[in-house]
Amino acid sequence: MSWELSEFGRGMCTGSGIWELMEDLGEALARGGDRTRMLGGGQPAHIPEIDAIWRQRMEEIMEAPGELEHMLGNYEGPAGNEEFRAAVAGLFRHEFGWNLGSRNIGITAGGQTAFFFLFNSLAGRFEDGRRKKILLPIVPEYIGYANQSTGGELFRGARPKFELTGEHEFKYRVDFDNLVIDEDVAAMCVSRPTNPTGNVLTDNEIVHLAELAAEHDIPLIIDNAYGAPFPNIIFTDVKPFWNEQIILTQSLSKIGLPGTRTGIVIAREELIRRVSSMTSIVGLSNTNAGQAIMQPLIENGEVLRLSNEVVQPFYRKKSEQAQAWVKEFFDDLLPYRVHRSEGALFLWLWFDGLPITSRELYERLKARNVLVVPGNYFFYGLEDEEWEHRHECLRISFTMSEDVVREGFRVIAEEVKRAYAE
Ligand SMILES: Cc1ncc(COP(=O)(O)O)c(C=O)c1O
Repeated sequence: MSWELSEFGRGMCTGSGIWELMEDLGEALARGGDRTRMLGGGQPAHIPEIDAIWRQRMEEIMEAPGELEHMLGNYEGPAGNEEFRAAVAGLFRHEFGWNLGSRNIGITAGGQTAFFFLFNSLAGRFEDGRRKKILLPIVPEYIGYANQSTGGELFRGARPKFELTGEHEFKYRVDFDNLVIDEDVAAMCVSRPTNPTGNVLTDNEIVHLAELAAEHDIPLIIDNAYGAPFPNIIFTDVKPFWNEQIILTQSLSKIGLPGTRTGIVIAREELIRRVSSMTSIVGLSNTNAGQAIMQPLIENGEVLRLSNEVVQPFYRKKSEQAQAWVKEFFDDLLPYRVHRSEGALFLWLWFDGLPITSRELYERLKARNVLVVPGNYFFYGLEDEEWEHRHECLRISFTMSEDVVREGFRVIAEEVKRAYAE
């Protein structure tokens, strides 16, 4: 096309890992019951008990006088529905004792949009010509951040330390000895649990990062899309953490409402006002449905019961099952390691010394109707391009039905074995 792209346009329109992933996901879901094994996207499972709650809530909204009309027919203020924000603040106050009110809560069109706003308002080019970046204390980190810059490189990633935690298991840890925070760092960001690895940074790691953030007076962004108290897809015993130095983001997606596009930012009031300003400029206001569906469940604490008693055990079992299949198909055949599965919806596989790149492996698997995400997309912001580990990993989602996931792992084992034999 002859219409020239601006710098912003080049960044946004000329291809990205997250676009490829979402296209794969959309196509696979649209095709439905064909032979594609979709182990790629972050689509949460349809848990019947959870889907039944959404249906029931929609019926209640339809029956209550004026509620449907309010939900569909009103622009809310750009920070979100006041009662919903108050309910969220109340839940966190009650659960964790944090000193929060509705003015500490801002709604966005999904967590994804929150990150776009946060990253681009905190980092990038400044009026006096300086440039600042978002420091990712552990790379690999969430693919969805990678292409969000409105101009120029936005991230500085840090390599983690590797802890070998079992014959076929490992865990990344923050390498504090080599974490450099200088005047070019605008903020730090971690997803916890981490997408893609299923890692959960320990309480000590988080406290240490929060201390560093306070010392340098920069925000620590903690992406809690999978964390406590909802959806609580977390399999280890860790504490959520917030103070005024921290920007905590939540999402309604992984508890089962990705279609409502509802993100929640928890932060000091001034930050929430900035987020609300950006929402009004970019989208006027937010989507109402997720807030309307969830509000009573947050007010009466039902969201905690669903998270703890339904969602978390469901995914824990899925993770254990997936690990059992990895053992069944990979053991004795392949030099592999799985990142310790502590939360989220994925297994992160590492094939040390893999003779082909993970991108090539992705293509071969796609040709066999198995969709995964090649690991290279999660390694960004790194100065050292030569790190072979970035081409040796795959992210596999375990949310789909048992036969799909099992067959997926079987095919992956075959293809990886073939690759090592070449
Ligand atoms: C770590 C992480 N953060 C944020 C998001 C964004 O989710 P949403 O925009 O659906 O709230 C995702 C989605 O997969 C994610 O995995």
